[in-house]
Amino acid sequence: LHVIHIAAEMAPVAKVGGLGDVVSGLSKALLKKGHLVEIVLPKYDCMQYDRVSNLRALDVLIDSYFDRQLYQNKIWVGTIEGLPVYFIEPHHPDKFFWRGNFYGEHDDFRRFSFFSRAALEFLLQAGKKPDIIHCHDWQTAFIAPLYWDIYAPKGFNSARICFTCHNFEYQGTASASELESCGLESHHLNRSDRMQDNSAHDRVNSVKGGIVFSNIVTTVSPTYAQEVRTAEGGHGLHSTLSAHSKKFIGIINGIDTDAWNPATDAFLSVQYNAADLQGKAENKQALRRSLGLSSADVRRPLVGCITRLVPQKGVHLIRHAIYLTLELGGQFVLLGSSPVPHIQKEFEGIANHFQSHDQIRLILKYDESLSHSIYAASDMFIIPSIFEPCGLTQMISMRYGAIPIVRKTGGLNDSVFDVDDDTIPSQFRNGFTFVNADEQGLNGALVRAFNLFKNNPESWKQLVQKDMNIDFSWESSAEQYEELYLKSVSRARAAKR
Ligand code: ADP
Ligand code: GLC
Repeated sequence: LHVIHIAAEMAPVAKVGGLGDVVSGLSKALLKKGHLVEIVLPKYDCMQYDRVSNLRALDVLIDSYFDRQLYQNKIWVGTIEGLPVYFIEPHHPDKFFWRGNFYGEHDDFRRFSFFSRAALEFLLQAGKKPDIIHCHDWQTAFIAPLYWDIYAPKGFNSARICFTCHNFEYQGTASASELESCGLESHHLNRSDRMQDNSAHDRVNSVKGGIVFSNIVTTVSPTYAQEVRTAEGGHGLHSTLSAHSKKFIGIINGIDTDAWNPATDAFLSVQYNAADLQGKAENKQALRRSLGLSSADVRRPLVGCITRLVPQKGVHLIRHAIYLTLELGGQFVLLGSSPVPHIQKEFEGIANHFQSHDQIRLILKYDESLSHSIYAASDMFIIPSIFEPCGLTQMISMRYGAIPIVRKTGGLNDSVFDVDDDTIPSQFRNGFTFVNADEQGLNGALVRAFNLFKNNPESWKQLVQKDMNIDFSWESSAEQYEELYLKSVSRARAAKR
């Protein structure tokens, strides 16, 4: 198969959260299975260009339509971890991708609708004949209606569209004029069976367009796929998902087990594996020293948390976990940052309060290298999400031998099974879970984890080793995507005959 991902993020060069990890992890896994995989990204000024090899501009410029005129785009091509990637650089006066930021701009809808149209234009003009165009999240969900309205009739109609929604909280809504900017007709706006937002009828909804117009619609775990079918979980799109339920499925993400491997991780001071955990203890001491935390007691448990600080992640419970850990005699390290000013400010306050404390450290920024050190150093890893479409940090932490303590929701429910849950076969039990999104719920799980850690070091060690040996690779999930792609392609071929 020839699969082209069109996305707003790709790890490690352009990553805000898990979307970036998924685009590269899934692509690598499909490549390994022998498929031709290419990726199209915006050419952001803030990308990590040192991780792109052989970057060069193509000779031709691609014209694409926007605001009733044509704009030129320079196309760059390079290789990221063995994957061919195209970067679109629009020659538009608004300098869409020269903002020093991936997202969070006032004109994000315009930026990504421009990108979606230019990406399709590039595929058409470059003579690409993909079997699958796979788009991700609201930023490129727009591809689906654009493709069927404008590009398929141009003879570019062999591709099937797969849309993965990584988070239904972010839907990309806009007014009619914004829709027209990229050349879609206003009938999308006026019809509830097209892109019209389900609650604000004078607006269009990009994710809804992705659901309605794609051939395959996925989200990132089976539990989340159930949750979004409810009024509460679907953020207004549950009825659309019900109407399209035949093509909608939840497939749990994997992680890139080459990028996340404590046995080879170049970010770590010492590499280690499940059979030899001495290196893990050394990473713990190294992190404590580098952050100025007390390293007097090796056995004092270290709780890690690496997250975007947004309401979805249960910020009030993260705050509570910091104080509870201190009370229980542990150490806490938080790495995170927030796009929400009052949350960022609140955590800055906590960080300042503890800035010279020897058991608590908050580092409020994005830092890939430090994230690896924290996974390696932590004994426990906390994820008290209110909702979590999949979540990757529980899988990464397990791979590094940090036991996850999570709220049972979405993908956390599909990947973390409580050590004390007798209804689950014991070989699958791998962490601590709680149900209620309140302090009591969290207390129960964290206290149980501390008790096991302190009172039964041998069982704890076995749990660490068990978690490190779980297979979180993309292998089986990529196979599920492959099956969906193949089925959709063969259905289309049969219909043509
Ligand atoms: P989400 O995509 O909702 O943010 P995921 O659990 O799917 O959550 O993925 C988060 C990814 O981003 C993980 O790879 C995690 O290590 C990384 N990450 C989150 N915050 C930071 C940060 N401040 N610094 C470095 N990496 C981070
Ligand atoms: C989103 C979700 C997260 C998921 C990630 C990758 O950012 O919030 O749960 O793991 O996408 O699919």
